[in-house]
Amino acid sequence: MIKEIDFTKAQVLVELGPGNGAITKYILNNLAPNAILICFEINDNFYCQLKELRHPQLVVLKVSAEKILYELKKLKIDKVNYIISSLPLTIIPEEVSDEILEKSFQALHPNGIYIQYQYSLSYFKKLKEVFKESISLGFEPLNIPPAFIYRCKKVE
Ligand SMILES: C[S@@+](CC[C@H](N)C(=O)[O-])C[C@H]1O[C@@H](n2cnc3c(N)ncnc32)[C@H](O)[C@@H]1O
Repeated sequence: MIKEIDFTKAQVLVELGPGNGAITKYILNNLAPNAILICFEINDNFYCQLKELRHPQLVVLKVSAEKILYELKKLKIDKVNYIISSLPLTIIPEEVSDEILEKSFQALHPNGIYIQYQYSLSYFKKLKEVFKESISLGFEPLNIPPAFIYRCKKVE
């Protein structure tokens, strides 16, 4: 997922559903000195584990992902360069997952990138409705279980 990120240009990154921080730690290790990572995680236990990282470039919010625009505004951030999502979109209620995708699209800079992993192709159609034709699909056989990785670019 992370090889899609150009860390030399990424100033503001958002991670949705980081869990216990496996991807988060990798991102933090690669962040440019003036970049920040904002995580949205609703699980108490995972939220506490992420806070324990105590990284100066990390903001951890115990807030659901559909609140992304509201929370960015509170942080005085207008747009972000990358959104990295491990959210289980297919099991989140449809009205909420629709809102997450739409607000994520709005939160991105032009040419910003939304990266999502999924264990099936079931969400491809939804992503296409929002990001149109600017989606590329990868497959990671070494993940357990193997996963599809969507790379969706905001083209306006
Ligand atoms: C598959 S796990 C993340 C795994 C993690 N990226 C890893 O590689 O270890 C999905 C995470 O999404 C979180 N989550 C689910 N719905 C959410 C929502 N609406 N907003 C933010 N986080 C959410 C869950 O609490 C869970 O930690």
